[in-house]
This record gives sequence, C-alpha cells and structure tokens, in this order.
Amino acid sequence: MPTTRNLLYKMNMNTCCSVTLADGQTTNVLLADDIYDLSAHLSEYGNNVLWVLDGNTARLIRPLPTPRVILEPGESAKNWRGTERILRAAVEEGMARDGRFIGFGGGVICDMTAFAASLYMRGCRLTLVPTTLLAMVDASLGGKTAIDFMGGKNLVGTFYPAQDVLICCDTLKSLSDKEFLNGLAEVIKHALLAQDEELYRMLLLKKHQIMGRDPAVLRNLVELSLKVKQSYIERDPKETLGIRQALNLGHTFGHALESCGRFTTWSHGAAVAWGTCRALEAGEKLGITDQRYASGATKLFAMYGYDIDYRIGRGDWQLFRQSLLKDKKKQDGLVRFVLLEKQGKPVLTTIELKLLQNLVISSPI
Ligand code: GLY
Repeated sequence: MPTTRNLLYKMNMNTCCSVTLADGQTTNVLLADDIYDLSAHLSEYGNNVLWVLDGNTARLIRPLPTPRVILEPGESAKNWRGTERILRAAVEEGMARDGRFIGFGGGVICDMTAFAASLYMRGCRLTLVPTTLLAMVDASLGGKTAIDFMGGKNLVGTFYPAQDVLICCDTLKSLSDKEFLNGLAEVIKHALLAQDEELYRMLLLKKHQIMGRDPAVLRNLVELSLKVKQSYIERDPKETLGIRQALNLGHTFGHALESCGRFTTWSHGAAVAWGTCRALEAGEKLGITDQRYASGATKLFAMYGYDIDYRIGRGDWQLFRQSLLKDKKKQDGLVRFVLLEKQGKPVLTTIELKLLQNLVISSPI
C-alpha cells in the first residue's frame, strides 16, 4: 500500500486514546484522517513486518503489501490452521521477536493476528488496523485474542494488547448496512454503559448522519465508544474484578440466540441488540432497572431497526439453555447476567430459570 505519494503525505494521525492494560502495557489508538494518512503511518513501520489480511480486506489495498498471509474471510478461518499459517509465514520470513504482525481486517483477523503475535517467539510486536465498525469499537482494543475451538467461539486465547491500533473511518464506507449495524449494536451498548450521555444523545439525534456514514460524525462516534471501553478495561484489564464483565451486556442472551441460529441466522450485533433488550426487561422485572430508562434504551435499538421483539420457539429452549450454561464468564458454575440499574450503572446477577423462560420463549408454558 505505501507509495511515494503516500510517503510524502503529511502525518496527520491524531491520538484518540492511550490505554494502559495489565502489566503496564500500553495501546495507542490513532485515528487517521483518510486512507492516505493511514498508509503513511503504516509505511513508518519499515520492512520487518508480516501482514495478515483476508480475501475481502486484501481488495482494499493496492499494491498488496508484502510479506503477507491472506486468510479466507469469515469465522471458518479462526482456528489452529489459520494461526499456523501466520506463524509459518513469520518463520519463513526469518522474523525475530522485534518483527511486527499487522492485522488488517475485521474481528476475526484482529483476534487471530493478535493470538499468533502472542505466541510467536513468546510475543512479537503487534499493530491492528480494524476495518469494520465491530472491530474498531471492540475487537481491536483490550488485548483479548482468540480462536474458535471444538465448536466453542473464542474458546482458546490469550491477553495480548496491540501496541498500536490504527483506525481509518473511510474503510466503513464500503461496509454493507448489515455489517455496519453489526458493529453499531456494540456502540449502543457502550452508550448505555457510559458514565455520561454524550454518546447516547449522539445516537438519538444523528441517526441520519450515522447511517449515511458521515466521516466526521463516525469519527466522533468511534472515539466516544472507545473511551467507554477504555474506562472499563483499564480498571479491570484481565476481567478478574467484575468490572470488565459489564462489557458483556447483552452478550449472554445474545450468544445463546446466535447458537440457536447455529451462528448463521443472527449476526453478532443483531443478537447483542436483542440480548441487551432482554437484559433491560429482566432488570425491570426484577425491580433493578429504572422503567423509563429501559423503555428509552429499548426504543433506541428499535430506531436503528434491530429485531428486539423476537422470541425463540419452545423447541429451541434446550439449545438456548445449553448455550447459557457454556458461558465463558460463569463463576462458581453460575451464569451471571449483566443488567443495568440506569445509565452507566451495570450490575452482575443470576436470573431464575422461570424468568429466563418468560423473557425469551414466545409462549412459555
Ligand atoms: N468484548 C468485551 C471485552 O473486550 O471485554
């Protein structure tokens, strides 16, 4: 990608935030003005790099950077074989520990490149360039790396934060509305978890500009969303204190719904939107969530077109329940759901089986 023209380009990248995680490791999140600004920054890394892309993101870069590994697009590549391809390429290139892996793509590429980087020579340098909204506001920041294993999503992984995350909102223009909404659900989730209402208000008042991919508005949206994530992960980098778990809002319900659809019917974001509405409803029923708040937040999801009223059939209940029981964030064998008291006030709690059935099944017995 870097061309002479790009190299001459003035470096404009602004630091969005500098996030300090476990063991004092820092991730610098940089926002590029445009694709030229991004390529100028990438060219600064020099030659001691290995690019990891997928068939879709490889189309965004001309000429294709070298050396590189191009994986199949999608979740099916997120396994040991894909990881081994990255590691083999690094060995073949004679990379040492001071080499840098550059993951250029969506959540799968970010998670896998980071996983491989954490393993290579016990950890090499890592830059992530998320190209989807989901990867920008979630996967690229926070050090979680993963591959799928034995049918379990993200079952094997490490904590290994990238040194740099480079974000260029121009890459969002080419996303389908479905893929864009896949990430926007996480942004709305962050808006509910934020200590202030700036992001919430923006989502409420600027739908037209957001869905129209207005670059300035998207940049602001991504920045605010990342700052919310930062506030949770810095306080609990390895998710051991019950603080970072709050980012799981809507995910326990959502993941179970995804598994009922065998991970093909529901996109992650659509399932998280649905799951967050179930968590709001559960909170209301348990007297935890302020009713007006729950109703307003549910309407916000509806305003962006998420199917929040869906209920599973009785026949899907066993599958749904099994998926809940496999939740990675179980503690002492108990599944804890993230509910909200109000804006920015998450609580972790168990939910009785009967209430769960009433919340998710279309006509419970
Ligand atoms: N995706 C939630 C987290 O990074 O903790």
